Amino acid sequence: LGDADQMQIDVGQRSLAPKTCETCGMFYGSNDADELTHAKFHGQHVAKLKYKTWKKERCLTSYLDGKVIAIHPGDASHCWKKVDAVLELVDAELGFSHVGIRNPKNTKVYFYVRDGSIIGCLVAESIKTAFRVEDSEIENSKDAQTATSRSICCSQIPTAAICGISRIWVSPAHRRNKFASNLLESMRLDFVYPHILSIDEIAFSDPTVDGLIFARKYTGK
Ligand code: ACO
Ligand code: ZN
Repeated sequence: LGDADQMQIDVGQRSLAPKTCETCGMFYGSNDADELTHAKFHGQHVAKLKYKTWKKERCLTSYLDGKVIAIHPGDASHCWKKVDAVLELVDAELGFSHVGIRNPKNTKVYFYVRDGSIIGCLVAESIKTAFRVEDSEIENSKDAQTATSRSICCSQIPTAAICGISRIWVSPAHRRNKFASNLLESMRLDFVYPHILSIDEIAFSDPTVDGLIFARKYTGK
């Protein structure tokens, strides 16, 4: 090894290859400018998800590792501000243009909270009808492995439904631990309390491929 190479190894504690942050999902290079951009974005990301127990928190379910809380129409504006901050982040990840809550009077939001942080979010809306996704199209979209699947085909015939899932999201580092399933379970108990929503009364609106795979597994369809 020449001196230059040796130097490289001695100070080479951090990898020079670009990397993806597991927490905020940002892909960045190992130069000062990128690291600064990442540090700023990372801080904002963490702040949006930070949760300090609200005085009038509506806790639905407590688990060993966290809890599910609900935000209902008419709740304090600081609660809905938090919802908006979280949705900003979720919509950016989903590639949705951020429009916030479309029907605030008919929408309930659920957060999975763990260690002072929101790690999952579900937005549920009152609806009357839904269009079922056609089976063959699900298979096609799975094969194609496209990042988003807005081309998924739906039946032309509406079926009755009560609750539309407009967004469901779990932070990347926490996926495949049943957090989304638990959010849905809590929502089904709360959304039209005391009625417990059946699987058939729920519809997933405009799902991504992740969303579709999860929905199929959860609903058993
Ligand atoms: N690939 C294969 N199977 C999956 C996947 C996946 N990516 N995600 C869920 N499943 C299946 C599995 O069978 C899983 O059980 P297992 O882990 O024991 O095998 C089962 O569904 C239950 O999954 P959960 O652990 O409850 O789901 P998770 O907490 O990981 O959240 C979610 C799923 C919300 C789709 C998550 O992957 C995510 O946030 N993705 C990015 C955002 C997104 O695309 N959201 C859906 C948008 S569509 C809409 O909101 C209407
Ligand atoms: Zn980060």
